[in-house]
Amino acid sequence: SDNAAAGAITALPVDCHVERVTLVEHYTDRLFRFRTTRPSSLRFRSGEFVMIGLPGGERPVFRAYSIASPSWDDELEFFSIKVPGGPLTERLQRIEIGDEILIKKKPTGTLVLDALAPGKRLYMLSTGTGIAPFASLIRDPETYEKFDEVILTQSCRRVAELAYGESTVRELVEDPLVGEIAAPRLTFYTTVTREPHPHPFRITDAISSGRLFADLGLPPLDPATDRVMICGSIEMTRDCRALCQAAGLEEGSNAKPAHFVVERAFVG
Ligand code: A2P
Repeated sequence: SDNAAAGAITALPVDCHVERVTLVEHYTDRLFRFRTTRPSSLRFRSGEFVMIGLPGGERPVFRAYSIASPSWDDELEFFSIKVPGGPLTERLQRIEIGDEILIKKKPTGTLVLDALAPGKRLYMLSTGTGIAPFASLIRDPETYEKFDEVILTQSCRRVAELAYGESTVRELVEDPLVGEIAAPRLTFYTTVTREPHPHPFRITDAISSGRLFADLGLPPLDPATDRVMICGSIEMTRDCRALCQAAGLEEGSNAKPAHFVVERAFVG
């Protein structure tokens, strides 16, 4: 039969697309990105995540991954940590061009423009791989149609961990189409906590001390003008949520758009 001829594919979950890896780039011993072909039927909003897994074994392990590419891109991009012994990333970190990736059919998530009330400025606060949904949103022209200014922040332990964000922003600014819209409106503000850096502090400290706003020449967070998206560890999202609430911002959702939205980054 046709199935026997296809051979390699075993017990494939029916709610999955099978795609192929088109690029793998390692940044550090803990971080890498990869790109895949995009299923022609997959539609998503910039900032959403999907469940991804690897074929083989009796029951594939799936983990939530933010789609880091914008919704107009004809490929998909993902930014991942490598967890030694991790149920998915132990194998995922060894993928190569041409390998198969399973992608579940239903994208979802709260880090979407639809979950925010209209505003003037959009802050995107991330730690580590929490930058992934924002790598999608900063490359989407709709972000700049909705906001005059976009401030992306990323905090990492080490300088080398900023490489993905830095190269993504650099390539965006040089992009012939989106670059023209994004470059005058986008600011990338980085902090590093465990190595020397011009901003040697957590983003939460930069917000509560006022240092972030002083560096940007902007007023402190204000529910009348400012919107915030948050993506990082449990502790980071908890602390950033508290700072937003202290400034009078209300948490939004797809069902009830408001001033800020929160999602935990993929953890392993
Ligand atoms: P720190 O080095 O002071 O812990 P991790 O790799 O542990 O997820 O951390 C990534 C970055 O997020 C680090 O710079 C770390 O700072 C910072 N971080 C950790 N916890 C918080 C928090 N609760 N609020 C803000 N930043 C945090």
